[in-house]
Amino acid sequence: MTPLILALPGNERLAADLADRLGAELGGLETRRFPDGETYVRLLTDVTDRSVIVVCTLARPDEQFLGLIYVARTARSLGAARLTLAAPYLAYMRQDIAFRPGEAVTSAVFAALLSQAFDALVTVDPHLHRHKSLSAIYDIPALALRAAPLLGDWIGRTVERPLIVGPDAESEQWAAEVAAQAGAPYVVLRKDRRGDRDVTVALPDLAAWRDRQPVLVDDIVSSGQTMIAACQALVAEGFPRPVCVAVHALFAREALERLSTVAQRIVSTDTVPHPTNAIPIAPLLAAALRSPIAG
Ligand code: R5P
Repeated sequence: MTPLILALPGNERLAADLADRLGAELGGLETRRFPDGETYVRLLTDVTDRSVIVVCTLARPDEQFLGLIYVARTARSLGAARLTLAAPYLAYMRQDIAFRPGEAVTSAVFAALLSQAFDALVTVDPHLHRHKSLSAIYDIPALALRAAPLLGDWIGRTVERPLIVGPDAESEQWAAEVAAQAGAPYVVLRKDRRGDRDVTVALPDLAAWRDRQPVLVDDIVSSGQTMIAACQALVAEGFPRPVCVAVHALFAREALERLSTVAQRIVSTDTVPHPTNAIPIAPLLAAALRSPIAG
């Protein structure tokens, strides 16, 4: 039987695209908020013995989580054979250690909750830093797709003489892969984050790359401070305003407006719907969902 795809609110366009590419059926799902803020969920398509793919990107996870769990539990109780979560953005990956005594390691707690509800997970560039792979915290098969080739391809087609710049040590993994795909050199900056919105970066010696257009690449833009500090440092060093390319466009309030004042252009993949989306991830997700992990 063909797989059934269910879209949580806000994921309808991606779900329809995936259904087209996979030749899957797009199922119906009714959700709404009661006046007191509680969540109502009703599955409108029979899931009995079906392999069900639930599409829900997890930006703003606290707003979405209960609805997602209600959908999964209801599908399971109605006889779904297999439940795969397609979450292009996977939340809570950055709190991967207790930095101070008593802090919740939310990446692990969140992973345990999703592992109870689903049989498999497919996501794009989860923030793997101290957790080396998703299997360190997820008990279900979990596939981490890499958007770097798509970013590198976009940069190679769009930017002349790019210099790929990773804003911090963690971004080296993306910067190197993006640069290889774009056929460009890369450098990595040193970042010092003292608070959510208090970020400074230090540049290495960039004398060899003076004639290049800097292209900042990072997995996440949230407050925008990382990209803003990196843009300011590069411009102060005499480079043109950087092009900024991100996988996950979270963009907290005013981040886009503030980054726009120091960047030449800002683009992202569409793992999180946002005005900067320019790089579609549906082909990557569809290829992965055809694999045995999705059942
Ligand atoms: C950090 O380790 C990530 O790779 C990003 O650099 C970070 O999450 C960006 O956050 P913000 O936009 O708040 O500086």
